[in-house]
Amino acid sequence: MIAILAFCFIPLADASGSQNDKCLQCHGNPELSIERDGKTKSLFVDLEAFEHSVHSFSSCVSCHPGSDTFPHGETVRMDRSKVADSCITCHPAQTEEYKMSLHSKGIATCTDCHGGAHTIQKESQLPISQQLQNHVETCGQCHQGRVLQSYQESFHGIGVYLGGTQVPSCVSCHGAHAALGPDDPASPVAVANIPQTCSACHEDSPANMAAGTEHFLLEREGPGKPMFYTYKFFTWLTIITITLLIIHIELELFRRFRDAK
Ligand code: HEC
Ligand code: HEC
Ligand code: HEC
Ligand code: HEC
Ligand code: HEC
Ligand code: HEC
Ligand code: HEC
Repeated sequence: MIAILAFCFIPLADASGSQNDKCLQCHGNPELSIERDGKTKSLFVDLEAFEHSVHSFSSCVSCHPGSDTFPHGETVRMDRSKVADSCITCHPAQTEEYKMSLHSKGIATCTDCHGGAHTIQKESQLPISQQLQNHVETCGQCHQGRVLQSYQESFHGIGVYLGGTQVPSCVSCHGAHAALGPDDPASPVAVANIPQTCSACHEDSPANMAAGTEHFLLEREGPGKPMFYTYKFFTWLTIITITLLIIHIELELFRRFRDAK
């Protein structure tokens, strides 16, 4: 570490070259790391990946204020609780919305959903169908189990999977940055707001859209119960009908065979 620092002090004093290059004289070294809380944290930044990201135009300092002096002060240290504050100057709307969400309570931060800090890609230029599929993948990293499965089995989820563009992803009903549970009156999925949320696509959204449950599975108990038994009924009806049909054909064939003899 000492050797690296000694090497880096000289170019820092040199006025030529962009500021990012100076950072990378140390942070471009894959070996650069520190010990913190008993763990080794890599301080390597992959320049090539950064240059292919949407922020390649940006100076490192715009997200890391104070880092242009070395040794860096305490404030330069990064941890998850500081991520949103490094985005707020340029993305105030998304950050304000995010700060109102349940996710901002130490649950999910910008970099969890946007694929890291230095490798963020421009999603808004992708085809709509791809964006919708990406949303489901993003939210599905954490919301597995009933929520994800019920969505994947719904008309909506199947529509997105088949490449639809007018079908809702998680984001169409919950928003990307303001995720709030159904108990919060400000949530788009609070009972009072559901008709409006659905009416974005279902024009004459009847008020009883709010009466149903969105994330249910076909189970013996719970909101999926009627659909579970309807499904079972039709499955058995189909099996029994086809079995009787086959028996009928077999008997008919047997009779013809016997008559022919
Ligand atoms: C002389 C080598 C050197 C230079 C040049 C340098 N850094 Fe660092 N940087 C370090 C070292 C060593 C640490 C870890 C110790 C510390 O936090 O001071 C560090 C820590 C950091 C951290 C905190 C990481 C964390 O999670 O604690 C950030 C962010 C950072 N540097 C960004 C930058 C940026 C941006 C630049 C350019 C403006 C830069 N550094 C220039 C060596 C350097
Ligand atoms: C768009 C804002 C942004 C830009 C631009 C940016 N960073 Fe970061 N950087 C972050 C965030 C956010 C984190 C914290 C990541 C985390 O903890 O999930 C971070 C973390 C770091 C760390 C700590 C190690 C790590 O990867 O977690 C270092 C070192 C660092 N950045 C250096 C740099 C250097 C050098 C540049 C310029 C080449 C740069 N950053 C450009 C936002 C940015
Ligand atoms: C210095 C200003 C600046 C900072 C700081 C900054 N961004 Fe950006 N960001 C931009 C600009 C400008 C664009 C649009 C670039 C373009 O259109 O090519 C952008 C694009 C994006 C996009 C892609 C949007 C799309 O259209 O798909 C995301 C996601 C994003 N930023 C997230 C973040 C996050 C997360 C942070 C904090 C870690 C951050 N930004 C910090 C300026 C910034
Ligand atoms: C829970 C996941 C999640 C978190 C956390 C998150 N984002 Fe996003 N963000 C998304 C999704 C999904 C989209 C795409 C929205 C769309 O296409 O309608 C998006 C879109 C964006 C865009 C593009 C413009 C827009 O609004 O569509 C920017 C800029 C952005 N996010 C910045 C941020 C910043 C800054 C933070 C942290 C303060 C953050 N995001 C936190 C999921 C998230
Ligand atoms: C058609 C609109 C719609 C879509 C699409 C949708 N949701 Fe929901 N979501 C709702 C409604 C309405 C509720 C309120 C409770 C209910 O009816 O199940 C809800 C509740 C939730 C809850 C909290 C309550 C619970 O049931 O655990 C989470 C978490 C959630 N959704 C995440 C997601 C994720 C992740 C996706 C994508 C995989 C998604 N939602 C897709 C409408 C939707
Ligand atoms: C890094 C993990 C993570 C990601 C990514 C993530 N979430 Fe969450 N989210 C959580 C956790 C943990 C909770 C709180 C526990 C719970 O209720 O499930 C939560 C809560 C929620 C709630 C409120 C649930 C309630 O019961 O009050 C909604 C709605 C929600 N998330 C939607 C989304 C959507 C939409 C996305 C994608 C844009 C997303 N989440 C991405 C982890 C995540
Ligand atoms: C982004 C647009 C969009 C939003 C928002 C949306 N839907 Fe849909 N919904 C569709 C489309 C498109 C279909 C047809 C999907 C298919 O056949 O794959 C559909 C199909 C359905 C179906 C099954 C088929 C039918 O027409 O009876 C139900 C039920 C339904 N939606 C209820 C809801 C409810 C309840 C909400 C609000 C919580 C909602 N939708 C929000 C676009 C949307």
